[in-house]
Amino acid sequence: MSATPADASQGGSIDHVLTEDRLFPPSAEFAKNAVISTVEQYESLYAAARDTPDAFWRDQANEHLHWFEPFGDVCQWEAPDAKWFIGGKTNASYNCVDAHVEAGRGDKVAIIWEGEPGDQRTLTYRELQTEIAKCAEAYEQLGIGEGDVVSIYMPMTPELAIAMLACARIGAIHSVIFAGFSAESIADRNNDASAKLMITSDGLYRRGKVLPLKQTVDEALEKSTTVEKCLVLRRTGGDDTPMQSGRDVWWHDVVDSQPGKLPAKPLESETPLFILYTSGSTGKPKGILHTTAGYNLWARRTFEWVFDHRDDDIYWCTADCGWITGHSYIVYGPLTAGATCLMYEGAPNHPAEDRFWELVEKYKVTILYTAPTAVRAFIKWGDEHVDKHDLSSLRLLGSVGEGINPEAWMWYHEKIGGGRCPIVDTWWQTETGGIMMSPLPGITPTKPGSCTKPLPGVIPKIVDEIGNEVDSENGGKLCISQPWPGMLRGIWGDPKRFVEQYFMDVPGQYLTGDNARRDNDGYYWIMGRIDDVINVSGHRLSTIEVESALVSHPNVCEAAVVGRPDDLKGQAIAAFVTTTDREINDEFLKELKLHVRKQIGALAQPDDIRFTSALPKTRSGKIMRRLLRDVAAGRELAGDTSTLEDLASIAQLQEKD
Ligand code: WTA
Repeated sequence: MSATPADASQGGSIDHVLTEDRLFPPSAEFAKNAVISTVEQYESLYAAARDTPDAFWRDQANEHLHWFEPFGDVCQWEAPDAKWFIGGKTNASYNCVDAHVEAGRGDKVAIIWEGEPGDQRTLTYRELQTEIAKCAEAYEQLGIGEGDVVSIYMPMTPELAIAMLACARIGAIHSVIFAGFSAESIADRNNDASAKLMITSDGLYRRGKVLPLKQTVDEALEKSTTVEKCLVLRRTGGDDTPMQSGRDVWWHDVVDSQPGKLPAKPLESETPLFILYTSGSTGKPKGILHTTAGYNLWARRTFEWVFDHRDDDIYWCTADCGWITGHSYIVYGPLTAGATCLMYEGAPNHPAEDRFWELVEKYKVTILYTAPTAVRAFIKWGDEHVDKHDLSSLRLLGSVGEGINPEAWMWYHEKIGGGRCPIVDTWWQTETGGIMMSPLPGITPTKPGSCTKPLPGVIPKIVDEIGNEVDSENGGKLCISQPWPGMLRGIWGDPKRFVEQYFMDVPGQYLTGDNARRDNDGYYWIMGRIDDVINVSGHRLSTIEVESALVSHPNVCEAAVVGRPDDLKGQAIAAFVTTTDREINDEFLKELKLHVRKQIGALAQPDDIRFTSALPKTRSGKIMRRLLRDVAAGRELAGDTSTLEDLASIAQLQEKD
């Protein structure tokens, strides 16, 4: 594993970022009304959270969460174990809905939803509360209670958020699985988490087609040893959904008829709230565990600070609830803050490439939070799709998932934001629970490509190979040196991996896995991963995970997977494989791609697969990934290749360019 910043330039945009010196201050107009409107305000919050964290977080938690029973100590921290708001009792579902109903805001719209075919629904906070309670009542009838794991594999319908919050209501633990993963991946996650209930829908709309979700789930359930029941939402219709008697039940049969009165259960602060699987540097995805109070508070406060939330905003996060962004910034953050959220089910280019802009215009969206890969697709599709629509309702834009390259930043700023909307480039991870570094839109002059500064409570350190703080201009490994309420509490079922992965390199500090540098203004620039994780269209994938999928094909002997720069995806997946004596042709190539799709899901399908007689290895037998990255990117070979075991193999790979 290599950790030099130069090596991390796989994303392709770092060169531009290194020379970026434009500065975009927030407008006086925006600053005037902002939640955090002066630099002094930020600095005093930051200093308070750093110097007197207990007092700071005690006040935050008391003010911004509902407590059935008060907590005692604020934080107990002995790396890697963090406990927050000890002994207190709260409930994330209560904070998301009941709190607003109790406060007389029950009629405010919580979710405006639009399906891909154009169907629409709105749910007020009161209606959402009832739906969540009904779903929780159904869970209880299905034998689900506190501590049980519920796997959710659903389209982006309100029921997805309802299913999550119904878990939170009774202390069940949700594990949402993005609806693009394969049956194999679902089964792996179900088994790892010992899921008891699975929730899905008959189908999912994607670009006008129906994908048979239930069929995939059926396949997964054949291999899921712990799942007892399957709850199925009717979304796409049709009579052909197979239902296994005794196991499968329809949502409309068991949820709709419930009274909807079940109160939120008071739960200990550290009650597990959810598991979310994400890729790390080994083959097996890990179940990141978040718990109730700390996560909920972090999601809420970071939402309010970064998105400058006001009561009349129409906020739209375009992520899917299958990822952490959907958890924190579609569900827990905005709902706890009492926001009105737009939720959209489908693809950005269906029925046409202006779908997002049509939605912004129609619902008068004020805050838009999306990913650089989407922005780059919009640029490619052409300005005419944007020009057709009135986007003057927008006042703030957000970006997440990967660094936003300055070209995309400028287009987003000018074309979508009309030059008037600040852009918040938010850096964070599944593990961090919520945003860690981001501009605050009322005060932070932005630099395209930089996530600027840490939020209150986040103390970053840049360290070298052996954990010493370094001259930050040159960059190094990014660590966080104090606990924060939203931090992960573990890897499900694997405490050893939890310590090794995050707390061993620099004892007592959280290792993010990213490289970063800090410039003279104290701004942070994220420079890519230090491990074998690649970022494909904002989705985290482990190269080893894809390699394992490839070698599970009977005709593949060895595989090496690397990321290569891609204009749209940020990184594309390039695979190098050695094979048995099977003939190499297009059919084999297609078969291999399909095989990876089947093993992991469409998002992991390699963009290129190259066949070779041997992989380049060092004398000690390690695959030379840096070299393969250069080959994949079509770059001149860099670095010292004198330790190559088989120079001929590299020459052969190059010939295929
Ligand atoms: C990358 C997504 C640069 C980073 C919320 C991180 C970013 C990984 C940014 C986490 C950003 C995310 N600038 N890089 N604004 N946002 N990343 O867990 O490498 O899916 O470690 O969480 O994405 O991905 P994850």
